[in-house]
Amino acid sequence: MQTLTAKSFGQRVLTWYAQHGRKQLPWQQPATPYRVWLSEIMLQQTQVNTVIPYFNRFIARFPDLHNLAQATIDEVLHLWTGLGYYARARNLHKTAKIIATQFHGEFPADRHALEQLPGIGRSTAAAICALAFGLPEAILDGNVKRVLARVHAIAGWPGETKVQQQLWQLSERYVPQQQPGPYTQAMMDLGAMICTRTKPACNECPLTDYCLAKQQNNTQAYPGKRQRKQLPVKQTTMLLLTDDQHRVLLEKRPPAGIWGGLWILPECDDPNNIITWCALKYHCDTTFIKAWPSLRHTFSHFHLDITPIQLQIINKSPVVMDSASLIWYNNNAPAELGLAKPIITLLQQLAKQLEES
Ligand code: ADE
Repeated sequence: MQTLTAKSFGQRVLTWYAQHGRKQLPWQQPATPYRVWLSEIMLQQTQVNTVIPYFNRFIARFPDLHNLAQATIDEVLHLWTGLGYYARARNLHKTAKIIATQFHGEFPADRHALEQLPGIGRSTAAAICALAFGLPEAILDGNVKRVLARVHAIAGWPGETKVQQQLWQLSERYVPQQQPGPYTQAMMDLGAMICTRTKPACNECPLTDYCLAKQQNNTQAYPGKRQRKQLPVKQTTMLLLTDDQHRVLLEKRPPAGIWGGLWILPECDDPNNIITWCALKYHCDTTFIKAWPSLRHTFSHFHLDITPIQLQIINKSPVVMDSASLIWYNNNAPAELGLAKPIITLLQQLAKQLEES
């Protein structure tokens, strides 16, 4: 086993990056603070291949920070639809407005200042500093946690404070003063391409002869896993309420909380009396068409089992049309708004069924 100095660690990582690292990602050319920030927010909990088309569409619609700051939240959520974790989109919009109004449109080149902004934690702030400003700040995203936990055989789940502190110390020790940007990208790439979760390619890794997990022949043990409790299951009934033009009633969620600001199918809290419930809530008469099979949507902290009930509306009341939080959604000419993921699935199934009927 070789001894590990910060210098040799950094050099090996940078040499590997020059040959094998990713240099053609859309947010790398050019790596402006706006583009790097947007990509880092999208990449939180989401893989590069998923993010690329979203990033490209977003940049095409909002090429700079001022375009984004002036957009409506519906437009932003529309472009985020399907990417999940929608709090990211709401915070992104808030941060764009703050940078536009309080920072003259320029991101501060300072980790602590960046950390004050909505949606930017320590690691994201450091990634922006390193990748967009070339500053030697240490990151600790999932990929880097895995690389460091393995090289040093750090036991325990990285969500635990003690483990996390050890990993931050290591990350800070290794970040070089020279080329912190390429080094940071290299560490992310190593985690994503070589030191993968299930089948790490240790023989291609520049750190293999330093790696304690490899020496123990036990890469799978690092990083340690969280002791997971079973997620609770919640139930909901959602209404697929269609009108005579095959449009579907959608309701906007309040800005905060689950699916905040997104449009979903109406949730009925009296599933045994749906027709009466519709009459009271929407002042309309409906006929029952059918109950669809349930579908499960899993959030980080619970499962949601959705039972969709399809109904046809007989008369249409102005109350339905007048509310700002209700719309008749036309599947064939969809309005641009943010939709929760299971709602997209249900609307697609409905469109198919109505086409066939
Ligand atoms: N994950 C988070 N940021 C990333 C980046 N810049 N490149 C690749 N994966 C990432």
